[in-house]
Amino acid sequence: MSGHGTPIPMTARSGHPLSGTANVPGDKSISHRSLILGALSVGETRVTGLLEGEDVLDTAEAMRAFGAQVERDGAAWVIHGVGVGGFREPEDVIDCGNSGTGVRLIMGCMATSPITATFTGDASLRSRPMGRVTDPLGLFGTQAFGRKGGRLPMTIVGAKDPVPVRYELPVPSAQVKSAILLAGLNAPGQTVVVEREATRDHTERMLRGFGAHVQVEDAPEGRVIILDGEPELRAQTIVVPRDPSSAAFPVCAGIIVPGSEVLVPNIGLNPTRAGLFATLREMGADLVFENMREEGGEPVADLRARFNGALKGVEVPPERAASMIDEYPILSVVAAFAEGPTVMRGVKELRVKESDRIDAMAKALRAAGVEVEEGPDWWIVHGRGADGVEGGVVAETRLDHRIAMSCLILGMAARKGMGVDDGSPIATSFPVFETLMGGLGASLSRE
Ligand code: S3P
Repeated sequence: MSGHGTPIPMTARSGHPLSGTANVPGDKSISHRSLILGALSVGETRVTGLLEGEDVLDTAEAMRAFGAQVERDGAAWVIHGVGVGGFREPEDVIDCGNSGTGVRLIMGCMATSPITATFTGDASLRSRPMGRVTDPLGLFGTQAFGRKGGRLPMTIVGAKDPVPVRYELPVPSAQVKSAILLAGLNAPGQTVVVEREATRDHTERMLRGFGAHVQVEDAPEGRVIILDGEPELRAQTIVVPRDPSSAAFPVCAGIIVPGSEVLVPNIGLNPTRAGLFATLREMGADLVFENMREEGGEPVADLRARFNGALKGVEVPPERAASMIDEYPILSVVAAFAEGPTVMRGVKELRVKESDRIDAMAKALRAAGVEVEEGPDWWIVHGRGADGVEGGVVAETRLDHRIAMSCLILGMAARKGMGVDDGSPIATSFPVFETLMGGLGASLSRE
């Protein structure tokens, strides 16, 4: 559970070039799914490289509450699942802390079992919309009773006789897609999800790995995903790859902090996740993919990022948004150190993340001396060049890990550094951020 501790004010100072190797933690999306699919399988699933961040640990606790055994065994996590349809009713409220992925995927995977569960989370999660998940779950026969506007705390009454569903996603969201697919596991027949824009496809890939039958077709209306219901999922051995969304922070720091060269090894470049790296290269960043290879069916590379002081603003293609949706806050920081404007459109989803990320970053950047324009689904950062950002202020992080990390990276390159009012949310996704950045030479301190 996050958001219950004392705030941790932090400061980053500039004038410290970064060098060395940054081994970032396991992928958050794949870690949640490993625990959930392990819990829905028969047998023993072993997971190595699991992200031990608060979000994922909350999902582990939730899987225990639904009846799975989840234990850490040395470097591995071991899950004894209950099988599809085997969840028991939790005895208490499920607290998903800060995690939208956790709560939405778990709602999906219990929604077609004849059990009731009540979900809550921290102040950030309690302010986020759940109707995007409970509306399609209602088509299976699931009922949801939440606060006004479909907010947590919320009670989900699972469908006793679920029917399969066909649903076209109204928003590009892997969380919504995944909730529906996980609900479809315990429904008869075929559950179909159509997405106009491709979002991260870890659920589809991993469901196949666990033995479900999932077909994906490219049709005029978009990507059509067809799941055959009521499979027997078989336990797996999973090696979680490193998280490209966490890699983004040391990579971008290497690009904007003068004199830096940083190596970030073993990063998955699944095309549904790698949009930031393409954008950075278009901006003129010195970012090289070394040792390109394939692991577990996914492209992987070692990323080498160097400062070159030659960044220019770009227009990010809106169709790329889903593949870098979590990376816009750190991209806005890089954009501040580029020459000219960086234009980001088609990014309405940023307003309903752990915080309103356009608003949070626009305020922080303006306070640091950078001009930002914004609209409902777009924003423009007017770059000030490699040495042009003043900084010297304290940004509000709003229980949002990516805002906290982005503002600290800004401080590593801004003339007067940068503070944040609360660095504690970083532990939700990147618990080793401080030591890892410190190991590269960054000057980061707690007040
Ligand atoms: C995630 C999907 C994304 C992303 C989140 C993780 C997932 O959310 O922002 O950090 O693991 O499915 P949306 O699907 O709502 O865009």
